[in-house]
Amino acid sequence: MSRILYLQASPRAAQSLSIAVADAFLETYRRHHPADTVTVLNLFQNELPPFDGAVLDAKYAVLNGKPHTPEQAEAWKAVTRVASEFAGHDKFVLAAAMWNFSIPYRLKHYLDLLIQPGLTFRFSPASGYSGLVTGKPAFLALARGGEYPPGSPAAPFDFQRPYLETILGFIGFTEIHTVTVEPTLGDPERTARSLGEARAKAAEIARTF
Ligand SMILES: Cc1cc2nc3c(=O)[nH]c(=O)nc-3n(C[C@H](O)[C@H](O)[C@H](O)COP(=O)(O)O)c2cc1C
Repeated sequence: MSRILYLQASPRAAQSLSIAVADAFLETYRRHHPADTVTVLNLFQNELPPFDGAVLDAKYAVLNGKPHTPEQAEAWKAVTRVASEFAGHDKFVLAAAMWNFSIPYRLKHYLDLLIQPGLTFRFSPASGYSGLVTGKPAFLALARGGEYPPGSPAAPFDFQRPYLETILGFIGFTEIHTVTVEPTLGDPERTARSLGEARAKAAEIARTF
């Protein structure tokens, strides 16, 4: 039995096309793995702990190999909780909107909490950086108002897909399946076609995920 963490990074609920694609993925996945559990974490509906001065002091203490003061230890607990909840899952599904060519701020906040030395990655002078979240697959459903096909003049503006795949790779993911739905603004027929194709691709990936 696997535990799935389903992160939703769009506040648009039933209007969200990234969530529609991730839902299609999970519908097929559940049929193939009825005993697996899915934890849904909507990053716009759930409050995240602050990522502020006290947490940063604690983070820099870890980076500099120094012990935590009592205040830093307390601040670091909130970060540890986010990382442990994440690590307690076996497979990951992420639905994310493109906002200003990148990701919604609540997802960035979550990633800033999650990506920590000693928790999700480590560094040693001998072997450099290595991710600690290994052997776990991720499925990304990404929606964008415009179109960013590889090699097109718009492609360099896409800081959503490359960023997410790179940061997940940094913490250890090697199996990342990404499906995009685009363009979601403009001609409704093109959007409907792209959504249909994305849902079909998502369902296909879900069969062997
Ligand atoms: C704040 C905001 C910023 C956006 N910025 C971009 C952008 O830079 N490029 C783009 O192609 N679409 C942009 N869009 C459009 C969204 O990417 C599009 O509506 C997408 O479907 C959102 O995902 P969702 O349907 O899962 O919410 C933006 C939308 C919002 C609300």
